[in-house]
Amino acid sequence: MSALPIRIAPSILASDFGHLADEVAAVDRAGADWIHVDVMDGHFVPNLTLGPPVIEAVRAATGKPLDVHLMIEAPERSIPDYVRAGADRVGVHVETCPHLHRTLGQIRDLGAKACVVLNPSTPAAAIGPVLAEADQVLLMSVNPGFGGQSFIHAVLDKAREIRRLADDCNPSLELEIDGGISMKTIGPAAAAGVNAFVAGTAIFGEDDYSGIIESLRKAAEAAR
Ligand code: DX5
Ligand code: ZN
Repeated sequence: MSALPIRIAPSILASDFGHLADEVAAVDRAGADWIHVDVMDGHFVPNLTLGPPVIEAVRAATGKPLDVHLMIEAPERSIPDYVRAGADRVGVHVETCPHLHRTLGQIRDLGAKACVVLNPSTPAAAIGPVLAEADQVLLMSVNPGFGGQSFIHAVLDKAREIRRLADDCNPSLELEIDGGISMKTIGPAAAAGVNAFVAGTAIFGEDDYSGIIESLRKAAEAAR
């Protein structure tokens, strides 16, 4: 069993963009561990969100680590811009990185934590050879592009598999899950070895951000 701390990472995709800095400060005060930022390019995923200037604004609103999830083609071209803007953890999709080992090294050389992201249909074996070079793995439990979708339970087998592989070659690897995380799904994900949980609508859909963050954390802790 993993002894890594539980991390609750609100996804600002579900926040009120008209008051972004206030929303970020509010989840920070409410106990968020990381702030999850979804960058979408309208090519790799069918949605377009934000880039480095908005990340700079998020950076100015919180001291918490920014967990930046790049859903963009050819991420290696712009990773330095995201780190300069304030990203602490940079996630790249294996589906966008033909030279994944090099891209993870690029992120680490820039001083950020390197995260590999897998779509629901991508098998664990796709990242086996680079698992020791990653600080974090993010498993998508929805097809990326939008918030508010239903959790794909089959991803939990992959979580168990990656946690087992990492316990051998990289025990401090953070295992994160993203998509459809709620009071119903966080327990099964924690039981499968996940320790970091992205939640968009589950958090920003509530009025009491501290209450929901605390409840999610307790449900995750109780399940492992
Ligand atoms: C989806 C994004 C998610 C999204 C999750 O492509 O990567 O981070 O915000 O939203 P919920 O928690 O509502 O499923
Ligand atoms: Zn995300």
